[in-house]
Amino acid sequence: MTRRLERKVKTLSEKQSEKRLVTAALPYINNIPHLGHIVGSHLPADIFARYCRSKGYDTVFVGGTDEHGSTSEIAAAKIGVNIKEFSDKLHNEHKKIYDWFNISYDNFSRTSHKIHHKTVQDFFKKIYDNGFIKQGKMKVFYSPSEDIFLPDRYVTGKCPKCNYEDASGDQCERCTSVLDPTQLKNPRSTLSGGEIEIKETDHLFLKLDKLSSKLKKWILSKKDWRKQVTNLALGWINEGLKERCITRDLKYGVKVPLEGFENKVFYVWFEAPIGYVSSTKEARKDWESFWKDKNSKIYNFLGKDNIPFHTIFWPGMIIAEGEFNLPEKVIGLQYLNYEGGKFSKSKERGVFCEKLPELDIDSDIWRGYLTQIIPETNDSEFKWKDFQERVNSDLIGNYGNFINRTISFINNKFSGEIRKPLEEDFTSRDKKLITTTRKKIKNITEYLEKSELRKAFGEILSLSAEGNKYLNDNEPWNLIKTDPEKANRVMYFCANLGRSLAILSAPYLPNSAKKIWKQLNLEGSPEIPGIWDSAVEFCFPEKHRINKAEILFNQIKKEDLAEIKRKVSKPANLPELFR
Ligand code: MF3
Ligand code: ZN
Repeated sequence: MTRRLERKVKTLSEKQSEKRLVTAALPYINNIPHLGHIVGSHLPADIFARYCRSKGYDTVFVGGTDEHGSTSEIAAAKIGVNIKEFSDKLHNEHKKIYDWFNISYDNFSRTSHKIHHKTVQDFFKKIYDNGFIKQGKMKVFYSPSEDIFLPDRYVTGKCPKCNYEDASGDQCERCTSVLDPTQLKNPRSTLSGGEIEIKETDHLFLKLDKLSSKLKKWILSKKDWRKQVTNLALGWINEGLKERCITRDLKYGVKVPLEGFENKVFYVWFEAPIGYVSSTKEARKDWESFWKDKNSKIYNFLGKDNIPFHTIFWPGMIIAEGEFNLPEKVIGLQYLNYEGGKFSKSKERGVFCEKLPELDIDSDIWRGYLTQIIPETNDSEFKWKDFQERVNSDLIGNYGNFINRTISFINNKFSGEIRKPLEEDFTSRDKKLITTTRKKIKNITEYLEKSELRKAFGEILSLSAEGNKYLNDNEPWNLIKTDPEKANRVMYFCANLGRSLAILSAPYLPNSAKKIWKQLNLEGSPEIPGIWDSAVEFCFPEKHRINKAEILFNQIKKEDLAEIKRKVSKPANLPELFR
């Protein structure tokens, strides 16, 4: 990159004083993620965070594993390892997968970290002192033989409506009635089958009812949220918010710092979102500015089932605490289905991420296809045929092909060197390419600002299609014989467009963007903070030598699909991980 440009990039990032904190919902540690998890929070959050850095915002992207709660404890017990060993192993499995996908977390933390426990307790004390916590009683199940309190899902009994024997605490599978666990007749522990009792114990409640009008005002002030998110949130508010229990009778978790509650822990949905704060603390010394400054914006990415917690419960906690910023935008994603049904580990239906590194397929290929099916507005579908077709046509046939044609041609016909053309020589076709490029970059930026990631990617692909069209219209392979000067000009524009595409696609296809950068023999990287706005510029100097062409992606062959599918549809078996 030239000096001039480096200077420009610098002034840009100085100008941008806005801070952005991007979060992806903290995954429960006991599930190893499948593609649905990747596309439902980590990937969209990552694309957005990468864009924000490139645009020059001071950006932090945090996440981590959500480790408490009885589900993990029980999973560990079933395997026969202690919770620490269980969590250490699974945290690493998660981390390996996100790293493989190039999810650019600035910090991927754990809710078991000390700093998190302390952060939660401080946060709670503040809410408590502000008068938003109330003491009350709650009926819970207790298993005397195991000496544990059982969460709803671990209680089985006879359905009061249809007399089905094996109804679970929250719902009867046979007649589908939604149940209150205390309604079950003859309740038993799902784990041991033993009898259980109902006990009434003291608990703490967040006075959500008192926070309702402030929450409503906040939600109504957000004009750019997706309809489904706003409507869900307003729906709950209009139904009337009730106080909500924030403690549990469990041993493992974040201890409640209040007299009389020494033997309880916080409900996971009370402490896990505070993990966003703890994770920021670990990531940055100046963490507070991301949470409290006026010029800082928070973007939460999460799946559909997490929407109530991120539009009501967690923001309610923030308001009750009093000092932290509410999110700028809650990006609630819908679900990804698999071949006309649900992902299912037991039925071996799906793409299980721990298997992907075994294949010889670049993570960019998965990122590229997944981007095209991010369930932004509706549930979407992973289909193998669609995967193969889109990869081959969009990533390879269009994007990869434009880059490869450009680099190869410059190498073959100009010994790898391009020269800057004179402006007075630009044809109307050249000028058309310039205008279209500018317009598309403007659209891409606007879409990304609105976190419309699919649309932005569609524009990026259509920009490389423009490049291919420009090549076809100009036929430099013929021009080189009749008008080499003109052929050079065409290739100069193509190389420049290649640079633009590297910058624009870097949030989506980071490996490929870097490969393009290297082939174009540019300095630095397409991911330098603040580089984004230079994508519209002509940056090559008078004379510039590029590197050899290298294929960006290999075709996905139809005959290989069955084998690929076979390899990735067998999820890792948890107990085996511990052998
Ligand atoms: N662990 C939850 C899930 O996987 C998400 C927690 S998000 C946070 O559904 F906000 F609590 F962090
Ligand atoms: Zn029933």
